[in-house]
Amino acid sequence: MNVRQDAIPTCRASQTLRQLSNGFLESVPLPASAGSRTGCVVPDGDGKLKFAAARGSVRHKSGPNTIEDVGTIIRLVRNRFAQFAWLVLGFNLLVILWGALVRASKSGEGCGDHWPLCNGTVIPHAAQIATIIEFTHRASTGLAFIGVLAMAIWAWRARPNEPTVRMAVASLVFIVTEALLGAGLVLFKYVGADASLGRAGYLSAHLINTMLMLGAFTLTAWYGSGHGPINWRASDSKQLAFALVASLAIAVTGAVTALSDTLYPVTSLQAGFAADFSGTAPLLLRLRVWHPVIAAVAGLYIAIVGAKLGGKVVVSLVLLQIAAGVLNLTLLAPIWMQLVHLLLADLLWIALVLFTAATLEQPAPKPATEFRPKVVLES
Ligand code: HEM
Repeated sequence: MNVRQDAIPTCRASQTLRQLSNGFLESVPLPASAGSRTGCVVPDGDGKLKFAAARGSVRHKSGPNTIEDVGTIIRLVRNRFAQFAWLVLGFNLLVILWGALVRASKSGEGCGDHWPLCNGTVIPHAAQIATIIEFTHRASTGLAFIGVLAMAIWAWRARPNEPTVRMAVASLVFIVTEALLGAGLVLFKYVGADASLGRAGYLSAHLINTMLMLGAFTLTAWYGSGHGPINWRASDSKQLAFALVASLAIAVTGAVTALSDTLYPVTSLQAGFAADFSGTAPLLLRLRVWHPVIAAVAGLYIAIVGAKLGGKVVVSLVLLQIAAGVLNLTLLAPIWMQLVHLLLADLLWIALVLFTAATLEQPAPKPATEFRPKVVLES
């Protein structure tokens, strides 16, 4: 089989690429004896990538070239890991939303005080709707943990690059702390009608952990797709870091508002506002009003940073989320709207993390000498 010259990718003069059984490419030094006769990755007849390293069956000769092609190839072959990491992120997003449904529909007691069994059985039969919601949440968190564990082991063993390994391990740490924080809710009795400030602080910490966990999943997938490290010394890094903190601050105030809405349900917009500004109202009720204010100011800041640096998705999501917030308030936060609002908050956070990574990504270093191999595959 002959491979078209213009379809032939490039190799660095000092290195060759070895494909590992797990789908990653490893860059390895050329053995001294190999000269320029070691292989390269080439597209096969189906347009898929194929490693053509077989000595004697690959011939190439030197010429000028660029490194970008090799980066593209590495990215493509790494896809199996990256695809899995994106899948882990997507699945966890669903798990988080389902967790919010458990809270909003007050289904937390659906499995009684049994754990890990649900009402004393492994799989509940003829269950109530609350039991189904709670049981589904428990089962999905178990699956989510297995997925993140598999992702961390895969990255650890394959070692595609250091940032991917670090982020995959951070993902594992965050999902463990997420579970511990969830268990702590029951342990510290931050449930039911408890209206303590401790509960509000605890829920805020829980939401921050959720956001950091989502950030770690996102960056694992990002680095796993072949991107370079982030340069926090770049000129735009301060604004982006500030935008990330602003996003966390909005989320924290949102968690307080969500708790306040659960404890003190509102029957009409006027009654809600009257309660918020009444001097005798409980503290949590009076704190509720701060979320829209902080969200508007901090959201505007994020949108300005996004617009300045060309982040159209970030800007659109901020505007959409502010509109969703107003709708949430007007409709008195029905469950479906709470879920939409939380989904948009998570998507905005993921978009901001990706935008920050893309803006601050360090350019790949240019090697001193490169060559374009002329590959002839002998079938
Ligand atoms: C960038 C803008 C915004 C972000 C990122 C954001 C984020 C959040 C988050 C993370 C929660 C907690 C959800 C949960 O724990 O389930 C929340 C709750 C809430 N937010 Fe926002 N928010 C934004 C803007 C607004 C605005 C402008 C309003 C009103 C005018 C608003 C009204 C509410 C209400 C009423 C809740 C409590 C009910 C619920 O849980 O959905 N939000 N928000």
